[in-house]
Amino acid sequence: MQVSKKIYFVFFLMVIFLSSNSYAQNKAEKEIFIDELMSKMTLQEKIGQLNLPGSGDIKTGEANNSDIAGKIRLGLVGGLLNVKSVSKIKEIQKIAVEESRLKIPLIFGMDVIHGYRTTFPIPLGLASSWDMNLIEKMARIAAQEASADGICWTFSPMVDIARDPRWGRIAEGAGEDAYLGSRIAEAYVKGYQGDDLKKNNTIMSCVKHFALYGAAEAGRDYNTTDMSLVRMYNEYFPPYKAAIDAGAGSIMTSFNDVNGIPASGNRWLMTEVLRNQWKFKGFVVTDYTAIQEMITHGMGDLQAVSAMALHAGTDMDMVGESYLSTLEKSLSEQKVTLEEIDLACRRILEAKYDLGLFEDPFKYCDENRAVTEIATIENMNVARDIAAQTFVLLKNKNQILPLAKKGKIALIGPLANSRFDMAGMWSVAAEHKESVTVLEGFKNVLGNKAEILYAKGANVVDDKDYDARITWGTSGIDSTKTSAQLRKEALKIAKKSDVIVAVLGEGAEMSGECSSRSNIDLPENQKILLAELLKLGKPVVLVLYTGRPLTITWENENVPAILNVWFGGTQGGNAVADVVFGDVNPSGKLPVTFPQNVGQIPLYYNCKNTGRPLSNEWFEKYKSNYLDITNEPLYPFGFGLSYTNFKYSNLTLSNTKMNENETIKISVQVENTGNFDGKEVVQLYLRDLVGSISRPVMELKNFQKIDIKKGEKKTITFDIDIEDLKFYNNDLQFVAEPGTFEVFVGTNSKETLKAEFELIK
Ligand code: BGC
Repeated sequence: MQVSKKIYFVFFLMVIFLSSNSYAQNKAEKEIFIDELMSKMTLQEKIGQLNLPGSGDIKTGEANNSDIAGKIRLGLVGGLLNVKSVSKIKEIQKIAVEESRLKIPLIFGMDVIHGYRTTFPIPLGLASSWDMNLIEKMARIAAQEASADGICWTFSPMVDIARDPRWGRIAEGAGEDAYLGSRIAEAYVKGYQGDDLKKNNTIMSCVKHFALYGAAEAGRDYNTTDMSLVRMYNEYFPPYKAAIDAGAGSIMTSFNDVNGIPASGNRWLMTEVLRNQWKFKGFVVTDYTAIQEMITHGMGDLQAVSAMALHAGTDMDMVGESYLSTLEKSLSEQKVTLEEIDLACRRILEAKYDLGLFEDPFKYCDENRAVTEIATIENMNVARDIAAQTFVLLKNKNQILPLAKKGKIALIGPLANSRFDMAGMWSVAAEHKESVTVLEGFKNVLGNKAEILYAKGANVVDDKDYDARITWGTSGIDSTKTSAQLRKEALKIAKKSDVIVAVLGEGAEMSGECSSRSNIDLPENQKILLAELLKLGKPVVLVLYTGRPLTITWENENVPAILNVWFGGTQGGNAVADVVFGDVNPSGKLPVTFPQNVGQIPLYYNCKNTGRPLSNEWFEKYKSNYLDITNEPLYPFGFGLSYTNFKYSNLTLSNTKMNENETIKISVQVENTGNFDGKEVVQLYLRDLVGSISRPVMELKNFQKIDIKKGEKKTITFDIDIEDLKFYNNDLQFVAEPGTFEVFVGTNSKETLKAEFELIK
């Protein structure tokens, strides 16, 4: 016995020795390879690796004659962005590896942010699923499809915390919460990168936009951010760090300035925080022309801002070609050092090495994969399942939903049959013709069980100028009919129906980049339509398309059922039908607060208490509140109904005192008391009652998404340990401070059971 144990131990040691040795060996091999390569590179070629020019619109068969080709031949290009298709990518890669002196392969990046040709819900929708397996699965499929089409690098995930729904890019992120955002960031990275970047179906992730892009003042895109360090570290930084800890190979700088210094030139951010504190080993790429834009920020001329960016630790220059045009001169004038150029170049070469591009520059260029692995039926089916998990049921008076599959159903609204809008913003590889509209989804799910009466009823917006801004110039306005005529048609069919489903909201491009709104109501013409439909006295269901929280206070008061579907992607229309007719029970929860009106913004659940909080729901003189509105959100963070009901009881703590080496078990009973099987997101929040800095009124610390059958009762258990109690104090130390903590467990951030425990020294 003793002998065999010994043998086993020796064997184990050998395994450890060999595996650590092979890791060291791989590392050494990489270093040797890159050292050798760099020893052959001219200064120009090194600077060339830092260059990520815009690809323009290179047509297949024309790459050779494009402007870019000449630069590639000279070794002045490190990679390209947003080139689509294996044939083009192959053609361009060939120039690099056959016609440039050192044959260094290019890296091809793209904004694959919510799927590739199989388009999934927008990221804010995906976040509403609170299901990390599902998000990882969607990222895996996105990587599979993108890599089959030549792409090896995605500019995703966007993990910018956003508390301002006026900001259009709130649609691209995971909402307002650092904890949820961090879990989601990890899931994306794992999904894209898989367990091995060298495989041909995994792609490198680029977490963005570092840093604080979501905190743009007034919700206006690209605007300034100015923030205390304590807030940055506790509330905005965690998702970036989580993505890096999960192994993200690259990170993108943000457009904005951070406390006065534009992110791309901000050495504190790109070197001190990223490299020294977080030990990030990948490479940093700027956002689109962000170095050049530092001139407009007021940081100096092109040469000065480029030197500033390189010195900050920014490795690759997206589109601006600022490094290419200035770094040589800056080096000769000693404004940058060769070490700085070398370091940036090395990091980019390392990424190419990690992707296996030196071994096979064409590993993502398999024409066969492009035909067989993209937009497959399997992927489309997964997309349909996933989309249905992202919808949030906001109201369901008298259980109007789910609708019975019978009778006459009026389907009305500008989003009911609009193929272009289904995929949602930033869907670069979507083929809109493949998107299923809500009308088609209804037909698919209903067959001949019910009669569908369809009318558009309204344009998304009536104002022609506004319309042009949100449709890339392709008008969404029906020029053959006036608004009154559209409404009249809709009312006519609505009168004949048993139930009305109004599919209203934002067009796809009303959110996303450069789509900030100062008024986040439903567009006026759509509101008028809705009001007229309600006057008919029939049951009305509002299916809401949106890329951001909308101020739908009036709708909440007047419409009996509201299902928020964000933008569900290619299969969104089918998924809407699945949920509306009860084949799927909705389980999405809001990752972001819906305010009652824009005046409340920023409104987020994990706010501070202030010295004068309200004790009642309504106005009190000299308390922190408004004269004209309560402090309450319209729908709180974590909110979302189901067709069934969940009853929470028996919140129990294994101990009411905890020292720093202990774990407390928190358990709660959840019972499905309604008539449907369902899924519920059980949410755990903590409040640190006394701190060396003021602490939020509650913070999400854990959650579990569970399946629970009708009539079933489950006990859900969470472990709390010292790590869950830590925060960055005023000296930016990550500490847990002794004292009382309140525990809240419930179905959303407002409806919880409460208990408390004490952290003792
Ligand atoms: C966006 C980035 C995106 C880049 C490349 C920029 O305008 O801010 O998020 O990755 O373009 O397409």
